[in-house]
Amino acid sequence: MTDMASTALLSIRGLSKSFGALKATDDVTLDLRPGEIHALIGPNGAGKSTLIGQVAGWIRPDAGRIELMGRDVTRLPVHRRARMGLGRSFQVSSLALPISARRNVMLAVQARLGSSFRFLRPVRTDRRLRDEADAALARVGLSGRADAQAAELSHGERRQLEVACALALKPSILLLDEPMAGLGPEGSAELTRFLADLKREAAILLVEHDMDAVFALADRVTVLVQGRVLMTGTGAEVRADPAVREAYLGEDG
Ligand SMILES: Nc1ncnc2c1ncn2[C@@H]1O[C@H](COP(=O)(O)OP(=O)(O)OP(=O)(O)O)[C@@H](O)[C@H]1O
Ligand SMILES: [Mg+2]
Repeated sequence: MTDMASTALLSIRGLSKSFGALKATDDVTLDLRPGEIHALIGPNGAGKSTLIGQVAGWIRPDAGRIELMGRDVTRLPVHRRARMGLGRSFQVSSLALPISARRNVMLAVQARLGSSFRFLRPVRTDRRLRDEADAALARVGLSGRADAQAAELSHGERRQLEVACALALKPSILLLDEPMAGLGPEGSAELTRFLADLKREAAILLVEHDMDAVFALADRVTVLVQGRVLMTGTGAEVRADPAVREAYLGEDG
């Protein structure tokens, strides 16, 4: 084991994925260290979501290797990676819309607990799921909306609910793909504070276009352009880099 691989929670080595002739990710190497928020930024189409999909396990890499806590998971399915502590913010479409916000989170808790349930009686099971779900909803600031149907939630509230569902899985690593999208300035500021606090429990790989949030939160930033890593550095290093400014930050303000 190399020293980098042994200290990283998540180690990504030479990951590539092509769609036809398009190289969506091209030899991407990066690490997520314990206690770190590592932001992944880059222009639209740079390959950020593709990389997240490869790490989570729903996109199969053409080449490269992914290790979770030193273990090769490159060929493991999504649920096995999740059980190893890899959480992700759910896509909106994965929320079960006709049921309450609380019930959505309860389903996520249930998914985590899995078969340990058979030792509990149904009423106690339900109580436990409910308490955990309410705690997760409180943490993301959605307590007041626990009984609302997911379909009644605003776009921003659904993003908060996705994070609550991810939290319910008690991950040690969180993959978040644009959690600030559609939140508005106040919602973004609130989620920023929450993520700063959350990083004591889980290392976070954060894809985000909101640069205020990125530079406020990230311990390190990796810039992806056309599938390739342009650089990895601190926020200050990335902001000062001429190639980054040209490729991305200067782009459209
Ligand atoms: N399933 C797919 N089939 C074909 N092309 C795809 C597929 N998924 C992504 N792509 C292409 O791969 C490239 C990278 O897409 P990706 O969604 O990873 O970018 P991104 O960095 O997440 O962009 P954004 O900031 O807009 O979310 C884009 O050119 C996209 O059109
Ligand atoms: Mg994307």
